[in-house]
Amino acid sequence: MSDDDVQLEARLAEQEEFEPPAEFVEQANVSDAGIYDEFEENWPECWESAAEMLDWDEEYDQVLDDSNPPFYEWFTDGTLNASANCLDRHLEERGDEVAIEWIGEPTDEENRTFTYEELHREVNEFAASLREMGVGEGDIVTMYMPMVPELPIAMLACARIGAPHSVVFAGFSAEALATRMNSADSEYLVTCDGYYRRGDPLDHLDKANEGLSMVDHEVSDVVVVDRLGPNGDGFGHDLADNQSDYGELVEEQSGETVDPVGRDAEDMLFLMYTSGTTGQPKGVKHTTAGYLAWAAWTSHSVLDVKPDDTYFCAADIGWITGHSYIVYGPLALGTTSVMYEGTPDYPERDRLWEIIEEYEVNQLYTAPTAIRAFMKWGGEYPDRHDLSSLRLLGTVGEPINPRAWKWYYKHIGDESCPVVDTWWQTETGGMMVTTLPGVKNMKPGSAGPPLPGIDARIVDTNGEEVEAGRAGYLTVNKPWPGMLRTLYNNDERFIEEYWKEYSDVDSDDPDDWVYFPEDGAKIDDDGYITVLGRVDDVINVSGHRLGTMEIESAIVGVEGVAEAAVVGGDHDVKGEAVYAYVILEDGYEGDDEMHDRIVAGVEDAIGPIARPEGVVFTPELPKTRSGKIMRRLLEDIANEDELGDTSTLRNPDVVEDIRVKVQEE
Ligand code: WT7
Repeated sequence: MSDDDVQLEARLAEQEEFEPPAEFVEQANVSDAGIYDEFEENWPECWESAAEMLDWDEEYDQVLDDSNPPFYEWFTDGTLNASANCLDRHLEERGDEVAIEWIGEPTDEENRTFTYEELHREVNEFAASLREMGVGEGDIVTMYMPMVPELPIAMLACARIGAPHSVVFAGFSAEALATRMNSADSEYLVTCDGYYRRGDPLDHLDKANEGLSMVDHEVSDVVVVDRLGPNGDGFGHDLADNQSDYGELVEEQSGETVDPVGRDAEDMLFLMYTSGTTGQPKGVKHTTAGYLAWAAWTSHSVLDVKPDDTYFCAADIGWITGHSYIVYGPLALGTTSVMYEGTPDYPERDRLWEIIEEYEVNQLYTAPTAIRAFMKWGGEYPDRHDLSSLRLLGTVGEPINPRAWKWYYKHIGDESCPVVDTWWQTETGGMMVTTLPGVKNMKPGSAGPPLPGIDARIVDTNGEEVEAGRAGYLTVNKPWPGMLRTLYNNDERFIEEYWKEYSDVDSDDPDDWVYFPEDGAKIDDDGYITVLGRVDDVINVSGHRLGTMEIESAIVGVEGVAEAAVVGGDHDVKGEAVYAYVILEDGYEGDDEMHDRIVAGVEDAIGPIARPEGVVFTPELPKTRSGKIMRRLLEDIANEDELGDTSTLRNPDVVEDIRVKVQEE
């Protein structure tokens, strides 16, 4: 490093606050700081500005109906169609502009570019196929697909005919697919033969079929996208009687159009399953108007997306980030959304930078876990490429440490792009706490103030606001358009999981209802919020949310396992990693074979993302006198931290035994 570089590093390391670059502010979609007061004074009517971003068939009557909290309704009695908002309305002016730029992982393969016109055509054809198959308004269609263009096409086709979709991340296991299809009573599945990962074709249909065999009701139709080409790269699948080839279906409907179905503002657009405290994943219900308005408004205000931009969110559509910020937000705004199939290190560690250079990407939105990996790989990879097209950087999914933030700001953004650290969740539909990049200074490590119109506070266990600098719990005290409406078929659990903690559940005054996202956080004197992490039994591995109960029940399902406790331990790339403490039944050995069976059990039940980093065999688990496992102590052991208080334990010695064991390994 030159002396200049050393000085620069030293300055960056110390700097705690960064102003938005003047050049950015000049052109920003939002640059008037008055928006915060304006929205506060004019709440909830301020959200008309989000609704106005959409085209409505019938105007809504009321911005917010809060007569039955927490079952809030937004833009009531309005009707619209999400697919028409993402496609049809752009045709006249932007029909020839690129909607989706799809880049496959193999470098010798041609990209697939869809203009709005082309995307519109294919969405119509597939919507016609779904209709032909018998899919009607309100039928839930499951999608178990990797990052192929047919995934957003299928989502928009469903939206067009008013059939809610439920997308299951392709990395999830067969069992996870079946659980979700069973929970949603979904009779239709769109899937795919396989895809590429680090150069190798992966069989996906095999896993889908295995999942289908565990579905407890009749699945009437399965559509299979041919991703791998005519010979299936050797997998040689035969389609079953109720399975059809996607390509043949759309071919049969060639040139067909389907009128977008006018959907009620509050009609379900999609379900997205996410992990919670119990073993059963929760089906988060999002609506047509509020969700779409939220995705569009935040894409415009926070990601600064403009129709002429080329925007790249490097997430997977199988998670909410991809729903809101690869598909619905950017397409509602008529921009070009880049979709990349593979991993960032294939064929080399500069793949993302190569894409950014080639397509002159303007915004990059990714996760801290990826940024930490880039940082580990070193600045030489981005340095090989011209990244000067970038105007804004974003991060989401987990807390970002200031060092990774600054690396991103300097090595990717060349100190000329604002970085937005966006806190939100599957349940919130879109961003909630982050700086408006054209208005607010950035503070590395802190997501920033709540967005205008969002009333987020940090409180103690009694719901009283805590002093600046003190750790507490994040709460949201007013509803917002993008919020989940309920958990599918389970209003009771909806109240139980998100509201009970800080609300007066017998009240019908909305002021008595407070949303609890189950995150710990602190706030500073400027109202900037630093999110500290989950306070429930959920761990965040590489920005992916996993329930410890789900993993534990997978482990307990392995023959020979008597009991298991799973915790998250610090990990320098993944953020958190899964550590399992396992008690075996008599007659079983904690050997390599057992270890491998446990890992395989978790991969089968959930998927490779939940794979334990460490498995510790122990004769006992630390328990309170009432028999509750003390996870906190197990976390301390995993992190090699000083042990917390063990005096309330029924069996205090066991902690020391486990610790010695872990250190020996
Ligand atoms: C949980 C939600 C939001 C889409 C991806 C994850 C954590 C998310 C941040 C951030 C600190 C964050 C929270 C949250 N989280 N963004 N910027 N800073 N923590 O969605 O799977 O629903 O997980 O991710 O703990 O509750 P999700």
